[in-house]
Amino acid sequence: METIKNHLLKKTKILENYNISLPKLEARLLMAKVLNKDLNWTYSNSEKIISKKQVANYENLIIQKIKKVPTAYLLGNKEFYSMNFKVNKNTLIPRPETEIIVDEIKKNFDIKSRISILDLGTGTGCILLSILGEFKNGFGIGIDKFSKTLKIARENGKKNNLSKKSKFIKLDWTKKEFSKKILDKNKKFFNNKKFDLVVSNPPYLLKKEINYLIKEVGYEPKDALYDNKDGLVFYKIFIPKINSLLKKNGYFYSEINPKSSKKIEEICRKYNHVNFEFIKDLSGKKRFVLIKN
Ligand SMILES: C[S@@+](CC[C@H](N)C(=O)[O-])C[C@H]1O[C@@H](n2cnc3c(N)ncnc32)[C@H](O)[C@@H]1O
Repeated sequence: METIKNHLLKKTKILENYNISLPKLEARLLMAKVLNKDLNWTYSNSEKIISKKQVANYENLIIQKIKKVPTAYLLGNKEFYSMNFKVNKNTLIPRPETEIIVDEIKKNFDIKSRISILDLGTGTGCILLSILGEFKNGFGIGIDKFSKTLKIARENGKKNNLSKKSKFIKLDWTKKEFSKKILDKNKKFFNNKKFDLVVSNPPYLLKKEINYLIKEVGYEPKDALYDNKDGLVFYKIFIPKINSLLKKNGYFYSEINPKSSKKIEEICRKYNHVNFEFIKDLSGKKRFVLIKN
């Protein structure tokens, strides 16, 4: 029978030996998960003894961490824009750089406005729901190709008290009549025609990047990362369609692969969207394209 403190010391050492980054923090986060407590509790109760079952559960999580399973999947949730989102192996883990989209949107719309939003490839629903968390009068639709992913997005809508203002629908943007279907849904659910805002963080990795992913990313859904072609499928479909989905003066925001910015610029010019700009991430890379309709 050992104390929480002793378990933490031992497991930190093991994680360190397997080159897991931030081993001390990881060991503590997983301990807190097993005990169903927050981190603070583990500090103030470090002399407590934990049950055999808890030890077994803890060891199981440590084994998964050694195999580089992302911590968000082990904990079952991830923070995004100060909100908490359920995640599992069917959803991409929300990334901190994606939060920039929400900040940028706040620059272009009055926070009190009744904006209608379409989130393409919603995953956990983190982009749509965090915008709705800021724009109290907003409403919107998140679409994804997978039912299992949408199930999590809906749960996140409920968990964050936003299920009345958000609908999550199964649709594949490579299929025929996508635009018509989504506009029909918008009419049905919100009695609204086109959208004020279309947002996305689509799959955009290049084939050669897929071969060099860090092990953790290999646990995330392939279809969330890669479009099986040139990383431009999404942009080639939607940039030509912006007029049919967006109201006049509406905005299209999408995350991009910085390596594809030149090609995305060419697509914008080809379809006469001269009103576009790239927004950089914190490392100075072109990470988002913003197109005004
Ligand atoms: C990079 S993830 C983004 C998830 C979430 N928006 C985020 O930022 O964390 C891309 C999402 O697009 C979805 N997706 C990929 N191809 C799709 C398609 N053809 N039609 C609809 N959704 C698709 C994936 O299932 C995945 O959830």
